[in-house]
Amino acid sequence: MTATVRPTTAPAATRNYPFIKTPVPGPNARRVVAQDEAFASPCYIKEYPLVIARGEKAMVEDVDGNRFLDFMAGIAVASTGYGHPKVIAAIKAQADKFLHICGSDFYFEGLAELFERLAKLAPGPSRKRVFLSNSGAEAVDGAIKLARNSTRRAGLIAFKGAFHGRTYGAMSLTSSKVKQHAGFGPLLSEVYHVQYANPYRCECGQAHADCHLHSIGAIEELFARQVDPRDVAAIFVEPIQGEGGYIVPPPQFLPALRALCDKHGILLVCDEIQCGVGRTGKMWATEFAGIEPDILLTAKGLASGMPLGAIIAKESITKWESGAHGSTFGGNPVAVAAAMATLDVVEKELLPKVPALGEKLIGAMRDLQKKHPSIGDVRGKGLMIGVEFVKDRATREPAPELARALVEKSFEEGLLLLTCGKSTLRLAPPLVIDDVDIDIAVAIIDRALTSLT
Ligand SMILES: Cc1ncc(COP(=O)(O)O)c(C=O)c1O
Repeated sequence: MTATVRPTTAPAATRNYPFIKTPVPGPNARRVVAQDEAFASPCYIKEYPLVIARGEKAMVEDVDGNRFLDFMAGIAVASTGYGHPKVIAAIKAQADKFLHICGSDFYFEGLAELFERLAKLAPGPSRKRVFLSNSGAEAVDGAIKLARNSTRRAGLIAFKGAFHGRTYGAMSLTSSKVKQHAGFGPLLSEVYHVQYANPYRCECGQAHADCHLHSIGAIEELFARQVDPRDVAAIFVEPIQGEGGYIVPPPQFLPALRALCDKHGILLVCDEIQCGVGRTGKMWATEFAGIEPDILLTAKGLASGMPLGAIIAKESITKWESGAHGSTFGGNPVAVAAAMATLDVVEKELLPKVPALGEKLIGAMRDLQKKHPSIGDVRGKGLMIGVEFVKDRATREPAPELARALVEKSFEEGLLLLTCGKSTLRLAPPLVIDDVDIDIAVAIIDRALTSLT
């Protein structure tokens, strides 16, 4: 088969991607997939048969030489792209010195620097303290422990549709898909789920901007009937709900939660594991609300893909004693070096460009919405954009098959996408994309939608 470059706009012709030379998956990819499927535990999801060989900026090349434009960043992780030279240099320099020392028990310069940097980077004036984990879920579990230990209360409130991870504590807060709980019980006790503030799909059945009132009302109802607020340690909230559908709540939602927490001495935990580190156009999505959480959680984009998470908590609530919590690998020196370089790159190079790129991408998706009736809602901040597909705009009935088919078709055309929620396309590209990448991605999505509907 002749190799075909599939540029979609005139400037895109200057790029060497997307470039699809074999039908995907190609022969090498099929071999790897077969080996993987023969031995991997069956719980893995595997969205589509992408077998990566290398990457550069927002380009991913597979083992057959096909080149894709990535608009999912390895699930919102590759913040600085695939192998930013400054991040790679920091990783190599650290690897040359030492690979490991247990940060829970010993010291090193990079660790102390990252503690200080994250403590000062978190929103709000209070002095903070930092704990480093290996993953998002571990940060969530640590935050559950910290909140309970600090308040000596057991109750935890989280939101329907939330995704906080898959370890026992995090999984107990997660309320995204039932198969993430099925057969695993008993989960953590004293966890309560209430409706998230979803302007497009409020639980009252309407689409409306005051949905935060219904969400806060649901918590007040919980306090009246089920759990005394004096028994609640923390409310865990994603400032923009990620896996649940890239849902942007009204601006009053987080301030209302903050006020409720203050009234009852409850800690507010902002899970920024997916939406943090510059993705929304601010370092932390919480900053849009102008509130200070008691605990902020980060992971995913923090170290450009090296495994690292962090619990950044107000010093005033960080009362656990030495040895109460720890980790052998958390704060690994190579991951720490990657995080310092990532924060440099995000703060100096990428963050200033995210708002304009986000405006362009969301604007282009709103233009597509005018053309394609299957697009029910377009929402987002910065480069965290959700496009929800519906069977009918009037009923807002979700169209999961279309969202799925769009992702598959785009993969065949050289664009990497992912869904979230029931029928939402999530656009979470590496923050290194530019205007041309947006033109390419939008043209592929447009073409795919035209062919599918
Ligand atoms: C908001 C949020 N919290 C927690 C997690 C869990 O992170 P990890 O997969 O690193 O455990 C995720 C992962 O998608 C997430 O999106």
